[in-house]
Amino acid sequence: MRQPKDYLVFPLDVPTMAAAADYVRQLSACVGIFKVGLELFVQCGPEVLSMIREKSDAAVFLDLKLHDIPATVGRTMARLADYGVDFATVHCGEGRAMLESAVKGGGSRVSVLGVTVLTSVSGKDIAEAGFLPEYSENVFRLVLGRAKAAHSAGCAGIVCSGKEVGEIKAHLGKDFVAVTPGIRPAWEQTAGDDQERIVTPAEAIAGGSDYLVIGRPIRDASDPAAAARRICNEIAAALT
Ligand code: C5P
Repeated sequence: MRQPKDYLVFPLDVPTMAAAADYVRQLSACVGIFKVGLELFVQCGPEVLSMIREKSDAAVFLDLKLHDIPATVGRTMARLADYGVDFATVHCGEGRAMLESAVKGGGSRVSVLGVTVLTSVSGKDIAEAGFLPEYSENVFRLVLGRAKAAHSAGCAGIVCSGKEVGEIKAHLGKDFVAVTPGIRPAWEQTAGDDQERIVTPAEAIAGGSDYLVIGRPIRDASDPAAAARRICNEIAAALT
């Protein structure tokens, strides 16, 4: 039976090993997965993954959002799998071949997640990137098309907005994992930040999200562990 904390993914969006270790120490009791992104991985390398394993029982998500030719993505995913990470990401935007190569490279060792459309991206951004109004006026069409590509390539799931999970699962099944960033508790709306398609933790759970990525509302709180506990309470209430 999953506990509320198992739904909570904390991104270690900090620049140093010392800062990352401090958050792992503070949050291990209330976070199910620690996510390592580009900034921390470029700074610390694979040692940061070992640090998380030593200091906590949480799973490890290496979020490098790979995006390259299929052969390079496949070979890189195989190296990431060698690190023993539980989850890793690849962009869906270039279509099936890159996704299939990522899944093949990861083998059964890592759950590969396809990044559909970043939650910081709006319809205006999509239009400016040259997509047809069919997509810029309805970003979900693009998200769903990319989720279908990830599903048929064999990805374990996708990263998408909490607003989009219900319909994606209706098309692709409830076992197709949905990881949702862009979550803002009602008590903490980070003014003017870069997330666009946001939902609250309770809305994300009600929508069927499997994992909630929540960073700044915890990282920048005066008491990060208390903020994480408050979010876990909200998740628990939404689950019942
Ligand atoms: O909660 P907060 O906005 O601080 O979370 C930011 C984290 O979510 C970053 O680590 C970012 O990489 C991640 N993320 C995202 N949108 C996506 C995928 C991941 O914001 N579509």
